[in-house]
Amino acid sequence: MSKLTLDRILQSQGFGARKWCRELIVSGEVSIAGETVRDYRTKYETSDFTYSVYGEEWLYREHVYIALNKPADYECSRKPSHHPGVLSLLPEQFSHRDVQSVGRLDHDTTGLLLMSDDGAFIHAQSSPKSHIPKVYVATTHEPVTPELVAKLLGGVKLNDEPAPLAALLCNKIGEHELEIVLEQGKYHQVKRMLAAAGNHCAALNRSQIGLLKLEALGLELGEWCFLSAEKMGQLTAT
Ligand code: URA
Repeated sequence: MSKLTLDRILQSQGFGARKWCRELIVSGEVSIAGETVRDYRTKYETSDFTYSVYGEEWLYREHVYIALNKPADYECSRKPSHHPGVLSLLPEQFSHRDVQSVGRLDHDTTGLLLMSDDGAFIHAQSSPKSHIPKVYVATTHEPVTPELVAKLLGGVKLNDEPAPLAALLCNKIGEHELEIVLEQGKYHQVKRMLAAAGNHCAALNRSQIGLLKLEALGLELGEWCFLSAEKMGQLTAT
């Protein structure tokens, strides 16, 4: 249990520097249970604490765990150079609390992307030791053949990788479409594996991490949601 003054609560949630948060409160932009609160010195118990800023309601969260349906032409990098960053798809306060993407999807890859400000979670999810399977749907230039599937399952050698990399699972799901499950998360891995197996990736979507399916979240492209405890549990389940 911890109690914090209202200005510190807002600051911790990414609403800006303490001085700015005080101004927000004093100018009547913050309410609690429908009542405008102008005293920033009052302390509140943070667990289950809800408050509104500019009329929008928020729950106090020590850390945020977010799923985004990433559209194409957004970069996961913290300093995007050629396209807008994925953070621009989230409310502004998340940038102030150091939310970042958990691993990366290429700028032209769409689909399930996790975002968080919890360093331990980010590390656990993206560590090569975690072995969390990730499911991708790749659209290919050339038709998907049984030989292609066999090569991806058998392992292909990529430049700068000491050993061949193999898909955990691989299924043809259309003439030019395959579902591929990987647990390594190397740079451009799906695209490079497809190229090494003699085909070419025309489009890529990540549809699942662990047992968490993007479809189950009901997010349109560019939409995001907080992950419930149940969905968080699905991330590490296999
Ligand atoms: N593999 C790729 O080639 N690109 C991605 O964005 C993710 C996995």
